[in-house]
Amino acid sequence: MEENKIIIPHEGRIKKEDRQRQKGHKSAILWFTGLSGSGKSTLAHAVEEKLFEMGVHTYVLDGDNIRTGLNKDLGFSAEDRKENIRRIGEVAKLFVDAGIMTLTAFISPYRQDRQFVRSLVKEGEFIEVYVKCPLEVCERRDVKGLYKKARKGIIKNFTGIDDPYEEPENPEIVVETHKESLEECVTKIINYLKENKYLE
Ligand code: PPS
Repeated sequence: MEENKIIIPHEGRIKKEDRQRQKGHKSAILWFTGLSGSGKSTLAHAVEEKLFEMGVHTYVLDGDNIRTGLNKDLGFSAEDRKENIRRIGEVAKLFVDAGIMTLTAFISPYRQDRQFVRSLVKEGEFIEVYVKCPLEVCERRDVKGLYKKARKGIIKNFTGIDDPYEEPENPEIVVETHKESLEECVTKIINYLKENKYLE
């Protein structure tokens, strides 16, 4: 099967750089990673709103639009999480090619899987945002009641309880949602994008 697969890509005349020029900003992946309840989705959507106001073409990929559609066949084993992140990475890469500032909000607990996504795109196109928050605080927030279920053993392999979370070693941005306000976190991320010339 594999050996019969011959794919010759068609080179379109319109390139990523042309799309970026048309929109007036760079495109990249803002990859939010952190424990369940750390605030990834809230923050990604707040950053999107700010960027949108600034006229930036954005899109957020998160559990709501990925785990209910493209990845609805995947669970939470290490293998499925890896495949989840691989597919999201490939989709995000296409969005970057489309000239879109792409925000993703997934636990993405494994360093190797996040590294894989980084390797898919050019240097500077993967911005890792570590949404740092101690497990005790996430557990106290327990927005979806899942920590309680995990502690009771109703949910197995729950990140932080009986499944690992590998902290980023060199993230481009760290926000601490138990210490910084939502507005402060958003400002930190927008400033990073401005200082590093993603936005004009
Ligand atoms: S991963 O690890 O990146 O593939 O996970 P992700 O796609 O971000 O999905 C995490 C959300 O699924 C809910 N959920 C679980 N999380 C962790 N471990 C287990 N076993 C689990 N089962 C269900 C949980 O609500 C996560 O949502 P967030 O928004 O992170 O709280």
